[in-house]
Amino acid sequence: MGPGRTETFPLRTDEDVLRVRQTVRIWMVEQRTFSLVEQTKMVTATSELGRNVVVHGGGGTARLELLSEGGRLGIRVTFQDQGPGIASIEQASRDGFTTGDGLGLGLGGSKRLVDDFEIASEVGKGTRVTITKWK
Ligand SMILES: Nc1ncnc2c1ncn2[C@@H]1O[C@H](COP(=O)(O)OP(=O)(O)O)[C@@H](O)[C@H]1O
Ligand SMILES: [Mg+2]
Repeated sequence: MGPGRTETFPLRTDEDVLRVRQTVRIWMVEQRTFSLVEQTKMVTATSELGRNVVVHGGGGTARLELLSEGGRLGIRVTFQDQGPGIASIEQASRDGFTTGDGLGLGLGGSKRLVDDFEIASEVGKGTRVTITKWK
């Protein structure tokens, strides 16, 4: 299936994260246009942000979409949770910053791996991160 396809997955456990990252890989392979490097970048970012939803956001969802915009094919993943939110996105995105026991490379690293990166967060309400890889 091509552009227009969309599917939403729960993100509560590590197995959920695994399922989402595997689905992103499959969708990209099926398009027969994303290189192995592009797949791996998107899958890695998906993994990091999915884990953030589980670990920091108290669980949430990941919505996968295949897009076509101006003749470009794209794959987008939107991560959403209703967790504590992020007080300072700038600080949280800095390499090495963590409030947990992680490496603090997830947000900054993911941003560098994809073409579009959007984050919106409100303390006490939750966080939404959208990543897109274009061909
Ligand atoms: N979905 C989220 N909800 C709340 N806080 C988050 C979320 N994602 C990231 N954060 C905050 O941003 C920090 C940096 O995230 P990240 O770069 O992935 O590093 P790590 O996960 O290793 O701590 C986290 O430690 C956490 O404080
Ligand atoms: Mg992380």
